[in-house]
Amino acid sequence: VNAVAIVPAAGRGERLGFGVPKALVPVRGTALLTHAVRGLLDAGCVRHVVVAAPPTEVEGTAELLRAAGLTAAVVAGGADRTDSVRRALRHVVEIIPDARVVLVHDAARAFTPGAVIRSVVAAVAAGAPAVVPVLPVADTVKQVDPAGTVLATPDRAALRVVQTPQGFDTATLTRAYAEAGDSATDDAGLVEQIGVPVATVPGHHYAMKITTPFDLAIAEFILSAGEA
Ligand code: CTP
Ligand code: MG
Repeated sequence: VNAVAIVPAAGRGERLGFGVPKALVPVRGTALLTHAVRGLLDAGCVRHVVVAAPPTEVEGTAELLRAAGLTAAVVAGGADRTDSVRRALRHVVEIIPDARVVLVHDAARAFTPGAVIRSVVAAVAAGAPAVVPVLPVADTVKQVDPAGTVLATPDRAALRVVQTPQGFDTATLTRAYAEAGDSATDDAGLVEQIGVPVATVPGHHYAMKITTPFDLAIAEFILSAGEA
């Protein structure tokens, strides 16, 4: 199965603090978005990529990817990540009406191993309507009240941290975006809201989300480890 991948890249990267959108921040001289799109196309199971860029950067983003030798469509993103994905999904359905499997990735998870991408696509192809890559939780997690006082300690063994790309049967994701309420911090959250089960596959530490300057240092390490 050949999937279509959506890459929301329209955020401002405020926590990274580079003064440019995070997707354009270079790691070893190459923009995070370029690393992310190349990773998807190199996985061998993605036939088309649709990027949601900051509305003022659509042409520049398209040029950046072209210059890197990558083929991708670029659309204008929205006010939040959900809105950016919604716009890109609309484009996917328009230009590739027969796309059966859609991935939603993050430009900020630029170093996700190909094996993770392939296992998400394989699980959707095998019949799961929604699939997320996950890792076990290493730290104990507390639930707190607004004052910071601990309310409960959920059983860590039953918790997972969630990564991307998240994979979906295209009809399921389209319905989730049409029917679910607006707020979810990931795409699978919208699918859960419409009562569709979400399966998990093993993620990888390299699929970490690059949010802070500390994360960027880790990303440099990942890239140098890959080259070693
Ligand atoms: N994103 C998007 N459209 C938005 C906001 C975010 O496409 N309006 C994308 C980001 O570009 C990123 C992913 O969603 O690839 C995850 O968001 P996050 O890590 O929060 O990135 P930023 O919003 O860029 O960072 P910050 O919140 O620090 O400004
Ligand atoms: Mg953000």
